[in-house]
Amino acid sequence: MYPALGSLTRHCTKKYEMPDGVVIEKDTRVYVPCYAIHRDPEYYPDPDKFDPERFSEEGKASRPNYTYMPFGEGPRLCIGKNLVTILTSSSFCSTLLRSKCKVFACFFSFLKMCI
Ligand code: HEM
Repeated sequence: MYPALGSLTRHCTKKYEMPDGVVIEKDTRVYVPCYAIHRDPEYYPDPDKFDPERFSEEGKASRPNYTYMPFGEGPRLCIGKNLVTILTSSSFCSTLLRSKCKVFACFFSFLKMCI
């Protein structure tokens, strides 16, 4: 919901007409406002609410593509995405396992979550 980079930048290399008729001229610098998109109630109703279900399979399917871009998108996508996802998930699991909570984890579900 709070991307590390608030916007992504792209340099338009050739004139492009968007489906709604807006024309982007060659050499225009384009800013993709990820922060605003991640907090747009049209895609994320009540954006301040902690709601992990937004990222369930059904939640993800209910939004158009390119409405969640914490690691960017397209050919310049962050190359550290999978590494960071695995490290963050394993750190979280390690913390849970050291806590007093009882955790029953399925290795295959964990892998599916990471990749
Ligand atoms: C939580 C951690 C991280 C976040 C949120 C993050 C986020 C991002 C974002 C938003 C971009 C721009 C993508 C785009 O323009 O579409 C990016 C690019 C990049 N990231 Fe990360 N990143 C993270 C960690 C890492 C790590 C650990 C590495 C290296 C191992 C890494 C390497 C890169 C590189 C090399 C690019 C440039 C890719 C390119 O321009 O082709 N990032 N990252």
